[in-house]
Amino acid sequence: MSNKTLEAIFSVKNNKEKTHKVITVLGTRIKIKRDDIEKFKEAYENYKIMHDPSLYIGIPDDITLQLMFNNDCNCRCKFCSANNQTRQTRQMISQDMLYKYLEPLYEKTKTIIPTYGEITHCKEGYEYLKWINEHYPHINFFIETNGIAFNKRWFELAAKSLMVVKFSVNAIDEETFKKTVWEKDRVFTTIKNNIENYIIYLQERGLSSFKPSISSVLNSTNYHIARDFVKMGINWNLQSFGFYFDHRENPLKNTYIKDKSGFDEALMTVLELEKLLKGKVYFYFRIFMPANLSEYEKKVEKISIESLQEKYADIWAIAKNFKDIKELYNERTQIRKKYGKKLLTYFEHVEGACWHKREYKGRMICENPWNHIRLYTDGMMEVCAWRPFKKVYNIKNYIKNDKLDFNLLFNDLHRRKLRKEYMSEKYEGCMKNCVSARPISKEEFDRKYGFEA
Ligand SMILES: C[S@@+](CC[C@H](N)C(=O)[O-])C[C@H]1O[C@@H](n2cnc3c(N)ncnc32)[C@H](O)[C@@H]1O
Repeated sequence: MSNKTLEAIFSVKNNKEKTHKVITVLGTRIKIKRDDIEKFKEAYENYKIMHDPSLYIGIPDDITLQLMFNNDCNCRCKFCSANNQTRQTRQMISQDMLYKYLEPLYEKTKTIIPTYGEITHCKEGYEYLKWINEHYPHINFFIETNGIAFNKRWFELAAKSLMVVKFSVNAIDEETFKKTVWEKDRVFTTIKNNIENYIIYLQERGLSSFKPSISSVLNSTNYHIARDFVKMGINWNLQSFGFYFDHRENPLKNTYIKDKSGFDEALMTVLELEKLLKGKVYFYFRIFMPANLSEYEKKVEKISIESLQEKYADIWAIAKNFKDIKELYNERTQIRKKYGKKLLTYFEHVEGACWHKREYKGRMICENPWNHIRLYTDGMMEVCAWRPFKKVYNIKNYIKNDKLDFNLLFNDLHRRKLRKEYMSEKYEGCMKNCVSARPISKEEFDRKYGFEA
């Protein structure tokens, strides 16, 4: 058959102006806009995704609700990523959302993470967590707080609910606090006193294993505090430290780093300390820009433990006597069982409950599109803290007859698409150094996190 005949049976060609595709079927010509073809292809792909049974999960029973609870805050951090919002009119997740629409989900909820502004500065936040703890005691709470208003009332609720508390301290004394965080007198001292009193409060109740963690934003104003920040926490007997490299200075999609030598030194310091204190203290990192973390890790691999013990002798002298962090996890798990809590994985214990991993074909992939809801005050949603919200993706779209359709929510196109992409370890739009997105085999993951209490 000649080409001409074949083309008369079926062909797809551009028109002269290249604005349309011309499809010929059995001699009949159909003209379709090029954009429409793309749309058609996309609609077909979406149809396949929506009808792929392997992407349907029903409603999971290990849900994490990360609630961007309220936008008001009692601190004025100079670096705050949320301060454009916290200076605006007060916003909070509505009472209807918290007590009515989300209510059917609480039985299946494993963890609630209230954050965004400052939860301890919000009376509705306190009431809500208290109510949840009374009605759904199986739910774990993870809070991050600046600690300023973390008073006796919060000590009590935190201890009663076995709250996992992370204090964002960001400094080592009044002077560094004023330089990096806020120029107000005695704020650092208030935070320090609250942390120290809370540690004692837990000790007195046999709950030392629920001792808090502390974190610091690191940027060009305070890179030099990294070592003393760890020392401060070690003196408090803490076993978990977080470092948040300021994303304003090290943006997500940029290779520019303000004060590169300060950045390098701070990152090397914390990686060295991480190596020295392995098993005794857990370090976690939020590094937004695409810095190649493994390059730094390789350098640290070559440094001997003996030289690190010498370099950080003051820190090592105290931390070498710490119990193993796995033992700490074990103790927490036993207490959680007694309190009837849903249990957390060791990965969630050390990295924080914003991240979850699941096995897929011998690899461990990010699990957030399966079981994580991040909810903004006005209803916008995402599957993770590090993916930007899109206006159109709103929980209100899933309210039908005054009820939230959770089956639809967990099996909508967005979540299915992400599940499909993550299954092939494509993490487009994610933070490069995200601990959940880092490629890792099941074997390697088990070596690092495969610990069951
Ligand atoms: C926005 S705060 C909200 C919760 C609470 N008010 C607190 O201070 O922890 C959440 C976390 O983001 C960190 N953070 C704020 N701005 C940041 C920035 N520019 N870069 C990296 N982390 C930042 C804070 O230090 C804190 O640990």
